[in-house]
Amino acid sequence: RDWTGYTEGMVRLHPGSWVFPAPFTDYADRIYNFEVKPSDVMVVTWPKCGTTWVQEVVWTMRNNPNLDHPQAALPVNARVPFLEFDMLMRSKKLTPPGPDHPIMQGFNKLCPGKNPADGIFVQIGEATPAPRTLKSHLPLSLLPPALVNVGKVVYVARNPKDVVVSFCHHSRIFKNHNYVGSFEDFVKYFIDGDLVYGPYWQHVKEAWEKKDNPNVHFLFYEDLKENNIEELKRLDDFLGTKLTQEQLNNVARHTSFPQMKARDSVLGGGDMEAVFNMEIVNKDGGFFRKGEVGDWKGKYTPELEAKMDDWIKTRLSDLGIGFKYTL
Ligand code: A3P
Repeated sequence: RDWTGYTEGMVRLHPGSWVFPAPFTDYADRIYNFEVKPSDVMVVTWPKCGTTWVQEVVWTMRNNPNLDHPQAALPVNARVPFLEFDMLMRSKKLTPPGPDHPIMQGFNKLCPGKNPADGIFVQIGEATPAPRTLKSHLPLSLLPPALVNVGKVVYVARNPKDVVVSFCHHSRIFKNHNYVGSFEDFVKYFIDGDLVYGPYWQHVKEAWEKKDNPNVHFLFYEDLKENNIEELKRLDDFLGTKLTQEQLNNVARHTSFPQMKARDSVLGGGDMEAVFNMEIVNKDGGFFRKGEVGDWKGKYTPELEAKMDDWIKTRLSDLGIGFKYTL
């Protein structure tokens, strides 16, 4: 099928049926063998589950609870390295960031003498000084096993109906995805496990099975939305950041949807038009689209919703995960 902008084709890895752009195979071992430090915290999610939000929350809790950090305005991925982004960049034939881009400035500073062709993002991840906050969309089985023994994982899940709406929008607004198909087809790809990063249920299952591991914090997007301060407190306990009530309030404000949208935590004020299809952004919203629970309502035809409900019943009910579809 049309892989929405991926130019080098896809591979399906077994067991798991994970779907990745072909260049993943060049980074898979390096990422699996990534050396984990005790102070590492990795935010792990399937795409569109609230990754950017939780990256900003965890980074701010650990580095900027008084909101005075000089680098807080940099794009979030320049502060929280996205471990496997090299595969996405190569597979979409994206132009590597220019020398003035914060990512390349970071690379040149952290990795002197290293060759960007060996992976910009993975090498930034390796060279970032402790304490590192990292990001990955890979399932736990493809990440270093030490991550959940030596380091810490914050895993974020979101109800699948909202995830699909958000991912379809994402694939339409990013020029390098350029998805022009229907929402109906997109739902089908999701259900069939044909979207990049593979079957959502399996990704969640791997983390859910580890939710009682003391080094794993399983967090729902919906709970962070509904009980923001309480969830920040739980994260504070998990991360050991020992924030005061005032600092927790700072984090809550700074990572609220309106503030992240206003600051543009993704591009950090970069060139929107180079990255996004502005016609769709102006009509349906940008990366910070709605930030709500339950926006899926009205987006599915009754037939499509019945298909999703079926899939949820078959794939998720065994796991006993109680997703919230509205608040
Ligand atoms: P919507 O498209 O439903 O608005 P990811 O970072 O994993 O790609 O997820 C993006 C989704 O998280 C988008 O969802 C985005 O709007 C939402 N999001 C980003 N920042 C948020 C915040 N501070 N609060 C709530 N939702 C946020």
